[in-house]
Amino acid sequence: MPKNKDENMIRLDRFLSNQLNISRTDAKELIKKRLVTVNGETAKLFDMKISPEKDAVVSEGVPVVYREHIYIMLNKPAGVVCATRDRISDTVLELIPPELRRDGLFPAGRLDKDTVGFVLITDDGAFAHEILSPKKHVEKRYYAVLERPAAESDVKAFADGLTIDGGEKCLPAKLELTDKPNEVFITLHEGMFHQIKRMAEAVGNKVSYLKRVSIGELALDEDLPEGQCREIMHKEIKKIYAKT
Ligand code: URA
Repeated sequence: MPKNKDENMIRLDRFLSNQLNISRTDAKELIKKRLVTVNGETAKLFDMKISPEKDAVVSEGVPVVYREHIYIMLNKPAGVVCATRDRISDTVLELIPPELRRDGLFPAGRLDKDTVGFVLITDDGAFAHEILSPKKHVEKRYYAVLERPAAESDVKAFADGLTIDGGEKCLPAKLELTDKPNEVFITLHEGMFHQIKRMAEAVGNKVSYLKRVSIGELALDEDLPEGQCREIMHKEIKKIYAKT
């Protein structure tokens, strides 16, 4: 049974439900059928308190590996909103398959409804705060198709820090030109409302397509189709912070 007291003790049925992505009822059923052990002893109470870090929980003979938080990479399609609920449109949370769902998931940062690409969804509030804070310098890189060709002078204007409509001053940003005059990559360290669209307008241009391609050094999986997601592994999380 539990080895010692711990501030993070939680009920066994809740632990099983969170970690195995099953309902609380199904978790209770496993315990009722005597299919769960804690530190080698069969668990009898749904509400027994366990330490997720210290106690060894086994369900149906398989160790339940504890993960405190989950991090999901979604390739957002156009038409869905980055919110936890919306009265009109589908939200990014509706694209999460049942096996990755948990309480408390939210998108860490917003893309516009018509923007596609990498959205990170998590239940880790502290992590989200870190990657969104301009002070932490986590880069977000976008691929954009513009209505008019980008100019060399735009590269300097972006690097100097544009002032966008309403007088907001942007942090220095990187504009990379490509072989195709209307296609560029833009790297930001912050996320103001419609920022790239407003930056393009500030240099007399307009965005016709926008895709987020990476967060930090973690790139959107090229073989992840739009509308699909997958879990981000621990070693990949480190890539998000690689340059900070
Ligand atoms: N900038 C925008 O204008 N829109 C986005 O969705 C992201 C960055």
